[in-house]
Amino acid sequence: MKKIGIASDHGGFELKEYLRKELADSVEIIDFGTKDESSVDYPLVIAEACQKVLSKEVEGLIALCGTGIGASIAANRHKGIRAALCHDEFTAEMSRRHNNANVLVLGGRVLGKELAIRVAQKWLNTSFEAGRHERRVGQLDTIV
Ligand code: RB5
Repeated sequence: MKKIGIASDHGGFELKEYLRKELADSVEIIDFGTKDESSVDYPLVIAEACQKVLSKEVEGLIALCGTGIGASIAANRHKGIRAALCHDEFTAEMSRRHNNANVLVLGGRVLGKELAIRVAQKWLNTSFEAGRHERRVGQLDTIV
């Protein structure tokens, strides 16, 4: 079973809780917070969770905030993180096949629960194609 982290600020909390429960049968989910709806700063929560990806404690991360925008900006500040803000199954699939995204970002105030589950499942069940994409993904970490 894949070991995947999940993290959100208060804006993504409700959807995080839903996904955490719904995905528990198919992946091992490690919850990196936040633990309730109290206001927290997304750069801090997301930074801490991204470190768990970089240290390989988890294979990937589902990160949420209200829109997904702050969480994706925050996650992509960390070298080695490839965070993709996805609103549909197609972008979730391509973020794995072409970009080898190791963080899926969702907007808790944007996506309905059923769509969010489908997007997350597509992301979890799609592999990196490598080939020509390997070189391009490598360039992300070497060209500053
Ligand atoms: C919190 O109100 C909200 O600003 C945050 O969740 C996120 O949407 C930021 O990008």
